[in-house]
Amino acid sequence: MLEVTGLHVAYGGIQAVRSITFHVNEGEMVALIGANGAGKSSTLKAIARVIDAVGGDVHFRGEKISCIAPHHIIGKGIALVPEGRGVFPRLTVVENLAMGAFLRNDKADIAGDLDKIYGYFPRLKERAAQLAGTLSGGEQQMLAIGRALMSRPKMLLLDEPSMGLAPIMVQKIFEVIRIVAAEGMTTLLIEQNAKLALQVSQRGYVMESGEITLTGESAQLLNDPKVRAAYLGE
Ligand SMILES: Nc1ncnc2c1ncn2[C@@H]1O[C@H](COP(=O)(O)OP(=O)(O)OP(=O)(O)O)[C@@H](O)[C@H]1O
Ligand SMILES: [Mg+2]
Repeated sequence: MLEVTGLHVAYGGIQAVRSITFHVNEGEMVALIGANGAGKSSTLKAIARVIDAVGGDVHFRGEKISCIAPHHIIGKGIALVPEGRGVFPRLTVVENLAMGAFLRNDKADIAGDLDKIYGYFPRLKERAAQLAGTLSGGEQQMLAIGRALMSRPKMLLLDEPSMGLAPIMVQKIFEVIRIVAAEGMTTLLIEQNAKLALQVSQRGYVMESGEITLTGESAQLLNDPKVRAAYLGE
């Protein structure tokens, strides 16, 4: 469904992503793990066209998307939940969620989807009228995921949903990520929390200094001595 070929990202002289190739099949959750600065976010941003790649191709559902305008990505069915969430702080929770549905034509279904999001995250329903900027970090993460789902994406790109959150909040958010994935959502999950990411995904890629150094079934990677030593603190 998503084919990334030879993707290369640089910031001036810094080679952040060095010609990486990987793919995500339809309905699959794939984890991209790696240490700080490995190039995970740069990879995701280049796919979502938030930044320009220096080289390489990205195909989504058979269509080359690596050259289209950034604002057309969402229309293709790709929703990015960025690092740091990126909610609109001066808008309320429900207004943020409505923004997610901005490009949809099936306006009649929006109310139903809003209920679905509130079902996933009851906290968002309680806080519907609260300004997003005053939500806690975990609530903002819920909102960012909810907003992405409101666009009815074909694929979710999640950049470190667990970052900076207390374990109980991480658990709540990953419960929903699991449910959404079980319902068939194709997902690319970026995490520094390698254990968690490999527990919820089917396949994984390990990124080091801008390159993919290891790949396999997530269950296999969880037991790989190199992964255990470098990323699972063992
Ligand atoms: N806007 C930028 N300008 C210059 N260098 C950048 C920029 N964004 C990222 N980099 C550099 O590119 C490299 C990869 O960064 P990236 O954010 O992709 O890593 P990451 O794997 O997401 O790390 P983290 O787990 O800390 O989020 C790092 O060395 C970083 O300093
Ligand atoms: Mg990052």
